Amino acid sequence: MKILVTGGAGFIGSAVIRRAVAAGHGVVNLDALTYAACLANVAEVSDGPDYAFEQADIRDARALDRILDTHRPDSVMHLAAESHVDRSIDGPGTFIDTNVTGTYTLLEAARRYWQAQGAPEAFRFHHVSTDEVYGSLGATGFFTEDTPYAPNSPYSASKAASDHLVRAWGETYGLPVVMSNCSNNYGPYHFPEKLVPVVILKALAGEAIPVYGTGENVRDWLYVEDHADALLTVLGKGAVGRSYNIGGDNELTNIALVRLICAILDEMRPGGAPHADLIAFVADRPGHDMRYAIDATRIREELGWKPSLTVEEGLRRTVLWYLDNEPWWRALQDRDGVGKRLGNG
Ligand SMILES: NC(=O)c1ccc[n+]([C@@H]2O[C@H](COP(=O)([O-])OP(=O)(O)OC[C@H]3O[C@@H](n4cnc5c(N)ncnc54)[C@H](O)[C@@H]3O)[C@@H](O)[C@H]2O)c1
Repeated sequence: MKILVTGGAGFIGSAVIRRAVAAGHGVVNLDALTYAACLANVAEVSDGPDYAFEQADIRDARALDRILDTHRPDSVMHLAAESHVDRSIDGPGTFIDTNVTGTYTLLEAARRYWQAQGAPEAFRFHHVSTDEVYGSLGATGFFTEDTPYAPNSPYSASKAASDHLVRAWGETYGLPVVMSNCSNNYGPYHFPEKLVPVVILKALAGEAIPVYGTGENVRDWLYVEDHADALLTVLGKGAVGRSYNIGGDNELTNIALVRLICAILDEMRPGGAPHADLIAFVADRPGHDMRYAIDATRIREELGWKPSLTVEEGLRRTVLWYLDNEPWWRALQDRDGVGKRLGNG
């Protein structure tokens, strides 16, 4: 299968590309190369015959038409997005432009392309989304695919809007869409402004490790390569028009996650122990959701997917990767806004 992956120079898109090429698929990576992109993430596959790169913006309809006509993919997997909640608080406009208008523009280009091919049933448009569209849970309960949408941040609202557009393009135009909503990812190549790499890199530098509020917010953590595997499963086996929740069955409070990373670093870098002494509680993020938890029964029972790693094992691999790949993260630390407190309201 030839897959057009949007956002393939980002964290999750690059994991999908590495895995898809390893599985024998052809891949076209379409990415605008924003501040969050890094082509080094796909360096291990980019020299091969099954990989092509196109620098383009998903809001550019003409570029999308040209790329689809040139490469003639069998499916589109759409990951390109503005993805950092804190940045969405400071500048929501870009999130609306890329995540909503961009998804609309891509849907229309995919529809033109699909119709010009004679509307093949086997074509897929897979929209990759987040569990944040469901809002916040109390101490109990889980998000299912039927949980009503209640997004609380500009980021999650823009993703919710894009989910609705994709669903509507399936219902109205018959475009063969599949959708997935996933919990928090972590793993290699995670951009240094997100929580897990922030903790690792601050701890390594001997600097204060910022934890928002009291650190009691709960997230369900999934190793990025498990997510990539789930996405290729949904693309290959998901039923048209259906959405699938993807989660790690690994609920942790933020403070427990930070303490776990510190304990792993104490073992791997004993010189800096105890790293947990660096933890510093800072003002909370406005609109900070209390708890996310995924019920992934549907993807497990219907498609036979489940996560392969516990969060303890995944974090060990992640910490080791950051220790072994300092040139990668050093180069990204100079980028606009990285390392600064953003989204303070
Ligand atoms: N990171 C998570 O924990 C998580 C969880 C669930 C879902 N998601 C979703 O998965 C997708 C990928 O997330 P990520 O963490 O890899 O994001 P990321 O920020 O690491 O990567 C996003 C990529 O999209 C590209 N991009 C941004 N705007 C673009 C535009 N206008 N045109 C073309 N390319 C553009 C960027 O250059 C970047 O390479 C997003 O849609 C996100 O909402 C993320």
